[in-house]
Amino acid sequence: MPDTTSPLLLALREGTRTCHKGLEQRLPFFSAGFDLPAYRRLIEAYHGFHAPLDAALTGYQGAERRKAPALVQDLHALNLARHDIDALPLCPTLPRIDSEACALGVMYVLEGSTLGGQVLKRAMAERLGIDADSGAAFLDVYGPATGANWRAFLQRLAEASVSTQAQSVDAAIATFECFEQWLDQQGVLLQPNPHL
Ligand code: HEM
Repeated sequence: MPDTTSPLLLALREGTRTCHKGLEQRLPFFSAGFDLPAYRRLIEAYHGFHAPLDAALTGYQGAERRKAPALVQDLHALNLARHDIDALPLCPTLPRIDSEACALGVMYVLEGSTLGGQVLKRAMAERLGIDADSGAAFLDVYGPATGANWRAFLQRLAEASVSTQAQSVDAAIATFECFEQWLDQQGVLLQPNPHL
């Protein structure tokens, strides 16, 4: 297998490490009392972020990397009707995407989250008894193609220009910040941990 660890990947990882840790600790997936209604509220909020971001990334990524269809499928499975889904709030503050470098930074965050999704998929199957057909399609959005899609994305990072690395890292950080702020506004996050 070719080595796809690029300087850009290392910079993105390093630049967003604290963001990832901070958000992971505030997400309620593993907290006591997390139940199906709380999960549904979380997926509603995820939808509000991913639906407009999918649209903003058109032109930078293929339709097969869109995340909103799986979230809509999950919301249906969790008993929301089409008109309920259409009425859900959408995040108005998205990271700026006006270049390939920005798009790569944003995509790094979204594509990387499919890896964490594998952990969450197993945890939600155990805790809530849900799978891809009953509300957890998003957590395994690429199914068996997860590894291949990630490696293809890493290859794209490896081929990117080095001169715009800082723009990509800034966009990735902005993506984490916008997402955390949006989820917080939707009331689905735990309080920040002051010891971080
Ligand atoms: C409780 C929630 C989460 C858990 C438990 C989690 C867990 C993980 C784990 C275990 C990995 C490494 C997977 C691997 O190397 O195979 C990972 C990677 C990653 N996660 Fe998360 N994650 C969570 C939420 C998120 C969220 C919400 C985002 C962004 C929206 C995110 C973005 C990323 C990124 C960008 C990587 C790739 C790191 C890299 O390899 O460079 N994660 N996550």
